[in-house]
Amino acid sequence: MESSTTGLVLCSLLWTVCAQVPVVSIEPKAAGVRQGESVSFRCRVVSGSQPVRLEWKRTNNSPLADNVKIGPDGSVLTIANARINNQGQYRCVATNSAGRSTMTTLLTIKYSPKVQVTPVGPLRVRVGEPVSLECRATGKPRPTVTWQRNGTPLVTTATEDNNTMQVAAAGPEHAGVWVCQAQNSEGIVEVKVEVIVEGVQGGATAPMASVSAAELIAVEGKTVTMQCQASGSPPPVISWSKLRAPLPWQHTVEGGVLTLTSLGRQDSGQYICNATNIHGYSEAYTQLEVDCEYTHTQLEVDSPPYTTILPDQLKLRPGDALRLQCLAHGSHPIAFHWTRVGRATMPAGAETTKEGKLLIGRVKLVDSGTYRCVATNHVGSSEATAKVTVKAA
Ligand SMILES: *[C@@H]1O[C@H](CO)[C@@H](O)[C@H](O)[C@H]1NC(C)=O
Ligand SMILES: *[C@@H]1O[C@H](CO)[C@@H](O)[C@H](O)[C@H]1NC(C)=O
Repeated sequence: MESSTTGLVLCSLLWTVCAQVPVVSIEPKAAGVRQGESVSFRCRVVSGSQPVRLEWKRTNNSPLADNVKIGPDGSVLTIANARINNQGQYRCVATNSAGRSTMTTLLTIKYSPKVQVTPVGPLRVRVGEPVSLECRATGKPRPTVTWQRNGTPLVTTATEDNNTMQVAAAGPEHAGVWVCQAQNSEGIVEVKVEVIVEGVQGGATAPMASVSAAELIAVEGKTVTMQCQASGSPPPVISWSKLRAPLPWQHTVEGGVLTLTSLGRQDSGQYICNATNIHGYSEAYTQLEVDCEYTHTQLEVDSPPYTTILPDQLKLRPGDALRLQCLAHGSHPIAFHWTRVGRATMPAGAETTKEGKLLIGRVKLVDSGTYRCVATNHVGSSEATAKVTVKAA
């Protein structure tokens, strides 16, 4: 009884020692094939006590597809006419009396890219609106996805399989055919989207003007330039003016740059850049201070007006409007008084303003002559003259 028990124990010990769990390997360890091709894997028993039973399974435990065949001894798995849903891991399960072990292999089905663009074209956007076109591509190997327009690659936001073309504010230059291209070793696929940029939209396209300097200090007699830039669509027209006064006689405006030469102290003041397009306008300001070359303390001292007239010569035809501006720099308040040299009265219909303007709506031949402006403050007065010639054409 005792010896038989001992024998059983010994026998089972021996059995354990002699019988080994199988060890298997799979050839190849991984494979990639195109759709429609065939592939096979062999599961080989490297060691372990016979008999070993071999089985193939999907790792996700789904049943093997109908185009997957197992050879008579269970070692060879063959996939004929491979399809995308054959892709995945396959597991060889080896079982003997001592236990079981598994080994897995990976099958990849290569295929040329499939591309989806959202939204599908044609895409209509308004000027100034954001544009976002998403291109998603699948494929094996993973395709590279790029956006192009008129053959030029574009900088885009790309994640693994999502390449999004984003434009913060659409302009006319963004109109056209956009092409999303996805490429891998199996092929190139392109999807085209037409982007139509429509011109009319309010606020977003109105001009926005800015000046290079909000304050400028310049010296009498010198030249100063003021720059104005403006965004907007269509491109705005830039004009310069001076607050409550015409621009100085010696000025030029070119490409948004205002240049004042031979500066006088009366040129001090606020200059306004006005950018205008059909959607609106925007103003930006530069404060110009023209200093006397010598000393700043003089500015603090009360001074008599320094007077000029703009323009100081005017050639008109009968019926034209006459417009003269008398300018005075000095301690305020300043009063202006217009007269005509050698005449007792001003022409009929002449108007003057407190700010020093002289206006005649329609001049006549007899209005030719020299006009004088006298500017007076509590310190003193000074005068300037302007010559007006009215001539028939
Ligand atoms: C694709 O990327 C864009 C920009 O990065 C993001 O806004 C969008 O949600 C993404 N789409 C998907 C489906 O991941
Ligand atoms: C700027 O232009 C607009 C439109 O032409 C006009 O209404 C506005 O008065 C202008 N501003 C100045 C300061 O000239």
